[in-house]
Amino acid sequence: MVKICCIGAGYVGGPTMAVIALKCPAIEVAVVDISVSRITAWNSDQLPIYEPGLEDVVKQCRGKNLFFSTDVEKHVSEADIIFVSVNTPTKTRGLGAGKAADLTYWESAARMIADVAKSDKIVVEKSTVPVKTAEAIERILTHNSKGINYQILSNPEFLAEGTAIEDLFSPDRVLIGGRETPEGQKAIQALKSVYAHWVPEERIICTNLWSAELSKLAANAFLAQRISSVNAMSALCEATGADVAQVAHAVGKDTRIGPKFLNASVGFGGSCFQKDILNLVYICECNGLTEVANYWKQVIKVNDYQKNRFVNRVVSSMFNTVSGKKIAILGFAFKKDTGDTRETPAIDVCKGLLGDKARLSIYDPQVTEDQIKRDLSMNKFDWDHPVHLQPASPLSVKELSVVWDAYEAAKDAHGLCILTEWEEFKNLNYQKLYDNMQKPAFVFDGRNVVDVKKLREIGFIVYSIGKPLDPWLKDMPAVA
Ligand code: NAD
Ligand code: UDX
Repeated sequence: MVKICCIGAGYVGGPTMAVIALKCPAIEVAVVDISVSRITAWNSDQLPIYEPGLEDVVKQCRGKNLFFSTDVEKHVSEADIIFVSVNTPTKTRGLGAGKAADLTYWESAARMIADVAKSDKIVVEKSTVPVKTAEAIERILTHNSKGINYQILSNPEFLAEGTAIEDLFSPDRVLIGGRETPEGQKAIQALKSVYAHWVPEERIICTNLWSAELSKLAANAFLAQRISSVNAMSALCEATGADVAQVAHAVGKDTRIGPKFLNASVGFGGSCFQKDILNLVYICECNGLTEVANYWKQVIKVNDYQKNRFVNRVVSSMFNTVSGKKIAILGFAFKKDTGDTRETPAIDVCKGLLGDKARLSIYDPQVTEDQIKRDLSMNKFDWDHPVHLQPASPLSVKELSVVWDAYEAAKDAHGLCILTEWEEFKNLNYQKLYDNMQKPAFVFDGRNVVDVKKLREIGFIVYSIGKPLDPWLKDMPAVA
C-alpha cells in the first residue's frame, strides 16, 4: 500500500488530502501539523475550516484511509510520498521584507524530513514557493543524506476557497514539475498515477521543475490582474456614467477574453494574490527586471486604490464625516462561502472607517468576533504565520461590535457597507433595514449584489461599485 503524508493541515493540505483519500481507497493518507488545535478540530465534528462539501468527504474517509495527527515524525518516516503544504507568508523583516516569501516553515519541514527519513522519498512542493525553491530543498534534504534518495516535485495547487472540493474533484489541470532525469520522470509518473484515479490524463500537465513553480505565481498574477483591470474600469465608469457590469459583459463576450473573473469589487483579498504577486515582483527585481517588477506591482497598487476609493466614497457621501456615526458592515470574509479573512478587503475598509472615527457593527455568517478583532489589531503580513503563534488575546477595539444578524448590525446605523457577496445579502428585507436606520440612509455595495433601482425606490442613497452614480453622490466632493 502506498503511503502519503501531508505536512500542513490547512486550507490546502486538509481538503486536498481528503479528496485524494476519497478517490484512492488503496492509498493511506496522513495529514500532520504542529498545531494541536487544528488537528483536534480535523478529528472532531467542527472542522477547522468552512468549505462546502468538505465535511461529507472527510466523514467518508476519516479513520479508514485518512488520518489527522500531530505525530509528524512517525508519519513522515513511514510515507513514500510527502506533500509539503505549509504556509509561505510574505517576509515581515530582513532581506526582502514586505515582498519575498518567508520559507522558514518550509525549511523546518524539510530539515525534519531529512532527520527522520529512513527510506527513499518523493517530496512534493504543494505550497506556493519562489522559483528555484526545489533546488534549495534538495540541498537541505541531501545535506545529511544517509544514502537516501529524494526526488523533489513541484505540484502547485490551483483550488480556490469556497469551491475547493468542486475544484479538486474536477480540476482544469493538475500540474506536476520534476527533474528531467530518469529518476525525476519516474517520480512524476508515481504522482501522476495518484491523480489519474480521477483526473483525465489530458488534464495532467508535466513540466520541468521551474516551469511548474513559476506557473503557479503566473496564474495568480494573471487572475489578480483581471480584477485590477476591471476595478480600474469601475472608477472610470463612475466618472463617465458607464456601467461596469455592462462593460465587463461586453468585453468578456470576446472569446479571447472570456466572461469569468471580471466582477468589479471593493478589491481582491485572500491569502494568495497579494502574497504571490509580491513574491513574483521580488523575483523579477532579484533578476534585474525592474520594468517587469513594476508592471506586476501595479496590480496591487490598483487594488489598494480601490479599497481606499471605497472608504473615501463612504466618508465623502456622508457629508465628509463619519465621526461617531454607526456604520453596519455586512460581510467580513474575503469572498463568499468561506470563513477565511486573510487579506480580506474588509480589514482595510474597516480600518479606514475606524480611522475616521466611525462606530462599526459587523456581521458575517462565518467569521467569529475573535477573528475579526484579531484581524483589525494585527500588523500587515502577520496574518499568515501559524495561528498558534499569533497573539492570544486580540486588542479590543472600542468602536466595534460584532453581531450575528444583519438587522441587528444595521439598527440605528447611518450607512450599510456590503463587503462580501454572501447570497443572503441579496435577499435581505431592505425595507425593514431602511425603517430601522438613521436618515438619510446609505448603502455602499462593494460587491454589486443589491438591486440598485429597488433600493432607491425604498429611499436609500445607493453607491454600487462602477455603476452610474446616485444624483445625491454626484453633488458630493469628487473621490480619488
Ligand atoms: P494554512 O496556514 O491554512 O496551513 C498551513 C499549515 O501548516 C498550518 O496549519 C501550520 O500550522 C502548518 N505548519 C507550518 N509549519 C509546519 C511544520 N514545520 N510542520 C507541520 N506543520 C506546519 O495555509 P494554506 O492556505 O493551506 O496554504 C498553504 C500553502 O498553499 C501556501 O503556500 C499557499 O500559498 C498555498 N496555496 C493556498 C491556497 C488557498 O486557497 N489557501 C491555494 C493554493 C495554494
Ligand atoms: C485564488 C485563485 O483563484 C486560486 O486558483 C489559487 O489557487 C488561490 O488563489 P482564492 O483566493 O481562494 O483563489 O479565491 P478567488 O476566487 O480567486 O478570489 C480571490 C479574490 O478576488 C476574492 O477576494 C474575490 O472576491 C475577488 N474577486 C474574484 C473579485 O473581486 N472579482 C472577481 O471577478 C473574482
